[in-house]
Amino acid sequence: MFLEKSQVISCIRYAVPLDARDGANGRTCEGDFICVRITSQPRKRSKERVLTLSSRTEMGEHLIRHGDSVKDIAFQVEDCDFLVKKAKERGAVIVKEPFVEQDSYGKVKYAVVQTYGNTTHTFIEYMGPYKGLFLPGYKEPLFKDPLLPKLPPGCLNFIDHIVGNQANDQMVPISDWYQKCLMFHRFWSIDDKQIHTQYSSLRSIVVTNYEETIKMPINEPAPGKKKSQIQLPFSLREQEYVDYNGGAGVQHIALNTSDIIQAIVNLKARGMEFLSAPDNYYDILREKLKTARIKVKEDLKILQELKVLVDFDDKGYLLQIFTKPVQDRPTLFLEVIQRNNHFGFGAGNFKSLFEAIEKDQDARGNLTTLTSDGNPKAFY
Ligand SMILES: [Fe+2]
Repeated sequence: MFLEKSQVISCIRYAVPLDARDGANGRTCEGDFICVRITSQPRKRSKERVLTLSSRTEMGEHLIRHGDSVKDIAFQVEDCDFLVKKAKERGAVIVKEPFVEQDSYGKVKYAVVQTYGNTTHTFIEYMGPYKGLFLPGYKEPLFKDPLLPKLPPGCLNFIDHIVGNQANDQMVPISDWYQKCLMFHRFWSIDDKQIHTQYSSLRSIVVTNYEETIKMPINEPAPGKKKSQIQLPFSLREQEYVDYNGGAGVQHIALNTSDIIQAIVNLKARGMEFLSAPDNYYDILREKLKTARIKVKEDLKILQELKVLVDFDDKGYLLQIFTKPVQDRPTLFLEVIQRNNHFGFGAGNFKSLFEAIEKDQDARGNLTTLTSDGNPKAFY
């Protein structure tokens, strides 16, 4: 996923462990190559259907076009040939037909299909138990940074979801593609009911595999009735992402934790930077929680200090926070999320954050509304 300096940063800042290096492709002109791996179900290896992140030397061209970004999201599969056959029949572009790699530790079958933008999906089928470090050809890293074991742990457990940002009107065709070509289905969540605010809206369809172990929200820009000139957190500006990325791509990777307070304290100590939320977000939140059916177990004062966001419904809640972009472009970033019987993705926070910022800015009179031709006009 990341190369060179970013790889080192990813290990130090994000607490992503360095698993192995690609013995065949490492030490290329792009620099030493690192494979990072986070699975969606780390304790159930035999059944994992997972998002495994990796990259290869062709990442170079991708980097020139998009900067540090996700090129490939790999899924562990049971039957690579069958999936490729089905995907092909249903119109998917096959980048690489099934092929096998092996070393003395075992055999693995791969295939690559094209998805949105320049992003691809690699299917990985273990043809029997693989006893090596990661995949055939991968070896121990040549250098192990002595700083890493001294840093506090990131407390990150697995990938919760990966969001893909699309250009205008591409959300439905792309989510249809996942349903048709990869046999995913739509994952309904509480977010479906609350994605619109008066000022803006977020269009998002979440697709998931049969077992619902992989969650892929597909977003597209959606102007609201009124337009604000305020600087929303970049995470909510889909169009800006598409402009800077040069097309569709992965907007963020959410990493699940079972203790977000400890995770954020530790990640900050490692130098990770997070987005902030205005204090009146927490004033509004406290008011809303007074009549809520759920009780947030964590100390709200600490959550506010750390700027962790809270979204909830009648049955549960989630805690989440977004990092600043991983590079100069306002494109790829990470999210840390803790779930407590809540299966949304934080759409309530989209509304709450917007309202909190709007409330503040409204007092200063710099809101605008959209004219019929889509141009902003003063709104007071
Ligand atoms: Fe997210």
